Amino acid sequence: MCGIVGYVGYEKATPILLESTKKLEYRGYDSVGMSTIDNGIKILKGAGRIDDVHNRLNFHSLSGNVGISHTRWATHGGVTDHNAHPHTDCNDRIAVVHNGIIENYSELRKELIGKGHKFKSDTDTEIISHLIEDFMNNDKNLREAVIEASKRLQGLFAFLVIKDDDEKIISCKNKCPLVLGMGKTGNFVASDVVSFLNHTNKAVFLDDNEIAEITKDGYQIYDIHGNPINKEINYIDWNPEEAQKSGYEHFMLKEINEQVETIQKAISHDKKTIQKVADMINDAYGIFFVACGTSYHACLSAGYIFSSITKKHVNVFLASEFPNFSHFLTKNTLMIAVSQSGETADVLEAVRVAKEKGVKVISLVNVMGSSLMRMSDFSLVLNAGPEICVLATKSFTSQLALIYLLAYTCAGRYEEGKDKLKEVAEKVKNVLSPENVKKINKLAKKLKNKNDIYLIGRGLSYSTTLEGALKLKEVSYIHAEGLAGGELKHGTLALIEDGMPCIAIAPNNGMKKDILSNAMEIKSRGGYIIGIANEDNEIFDYSIIIPEVEMHPILMIIPIQLLAYYLAVERGCDPDKPRNLAKSVTVK
Ligand code: AGP
Repeated sequence: MCGIVGYVGYEKATPILLESTKKLEYRGYDSVGMSTIDNGIKILKGAGRIDDVHNRLNFHSLSGNVGISHTRWATHGGVTDHNAHPHTDCNDRIAVVHNGIIENYSELRKELIGKGHKFKSDTDTEIISHLIEDFMNNDKNLREAVIEASKRLQGLFAFLVIKDDDEKIISCKNKCPLVLGMGKTGNFVASDVVSFLNHTNKAVFLDDNEIAEITKDGYQIYDIHGNPINKEINYIDWNPEEAQKSGYEHFMLKEINEQVETIQKAISHDKKTIQKVADMINDAYGIFFVACGTSYHACLSAGYIFSSITKKHVNVFLASEFPNFSHFLTKNTLMIAVSQSGETADVLEAVRVAKEKGVKVISLVNVMGSSLMRMSDFSLVLNAGPEICVLATKSFTSQLALIYLLAYTCAGRYEEGKDKLKEVAEKVKNVLSPENVKKINKLAKKLKNKNDIYLIGRGLSYSTTLEGALKLKEVSYIHAEGLAGGELKHGTLALIEDGMPCIAIAPNNGMKKDILSNAMEIKSRGGYIIGIANEDNEIFDYSIIIPEVEMHPILMIIPIQLLAYYLAVERGCDPDKPRNLAKSVTVK
């Protein structure tokens, strides 16, 4: 899941590409490279983060108004300079940047080597430049060669191509995101609108098996048979400032602090729209929530929420496992696919499997125009704005808010649900109060040298423990495990040693007594109990007090988001770009 961007226009390409590629760095940051057309193909690339490689190589030394750029998340070939993109053909006349995985690259590589092609890298991507070269050697023009090459490729791919004597970019999309941007002084093609939002909000989202030819004065899209097709322009209502840090040290801290507004925005859909989705849920025969990572934890909460509010059973599946359970899907089944990016490969695959069975698909998604949004029968956007930090924070509480509103509407209590959620959004301010932030920062200093942190909760708080553990692991690299309080004595209690931190999530509800006795069991084995609760308790060695609300998962996760952030800062980890991760996982 790399980030790719191309620019062709009336301005020098590299300053624009550098700025745009930085905005895509959340998609992968193992290596970076650029290529422009300047009396032939010119390339600069290297392993490392953009700023380091730029300081080392100075991308501005590349001239030309046509260029392509890439920031990598390595899948095939080590993190080295020669595996960095762009990759070229045998004569360095064609340059390619690629996002995705070519599954049949080894047989294609053998075939091309058999034809005399010389490879310079260990990547799957280099196949594409040699395939295009091969078709051009058989009298195909650049666009035709790209189309023929794409027909030979299996897997997920979005790639951009430039050629030394052609002032244009050719792009090709199949199952990885690609969007065109029409600017005033030039045009863009990229993995994500955020990369060119400060130049234009006029975007054309490409679909699978579409090839686009982009010049400085316009673009033309073709289908896989080479027939020209027209597509509508979307006007993205995100303003570029939203994709900035706005004075915060990191996007993670900014996005955690945006949750007062984002929760309100998540429930700002008009009643008619929410009612339409609620009716689809009420009419369905079998409901399947499907997602990955943090979005999956929101779906887990949906299981509890729909059971208690609508007395309805909903199934919750990890998207990567869902295809194993597709045997009993019917056209009366409803899938609710949840994804911040709308590009997570396992979620898109689960949707494809469901659609083959005639299942209706509703999606809860944050990125407008994303693949999931366009594959769905109906889509509800989170309205959380761009989420740049790799860790999902504001999108999680927005997903929970929308799930609560849907459940209340299914139960015919829309107004009541909306009022309660507005109250919760206001209470976020208390959770983020300077006293609480100071207390959580102090706790991070206490825990920064710990190797393990456990989280226990019961009922809805069980899914909060899983999300909390994921946040701690992702960004501080401390091993963290969330578990249902009732499971403690069935094994994990054996791991508790003196001073081992355990976060007990203990809202005022019918399960509080049980979770406090679980905390006591850990404390009696030397555990250090951190209570996240509505009131203090003598069992707690350290406590973070949260306003009492019925929809407690939305508030209870925020102190853990902050703890994860401050632990990352204390341990010198990058809160926005954790190692080995990327914002949207576009490969299975
Ligand atoms: C969460 O912090 C992670 N970034 C990751 O688990 C993420 O939630 C998962 O990859 C799903 O992403 P999506 O919501 O964009 O589909």
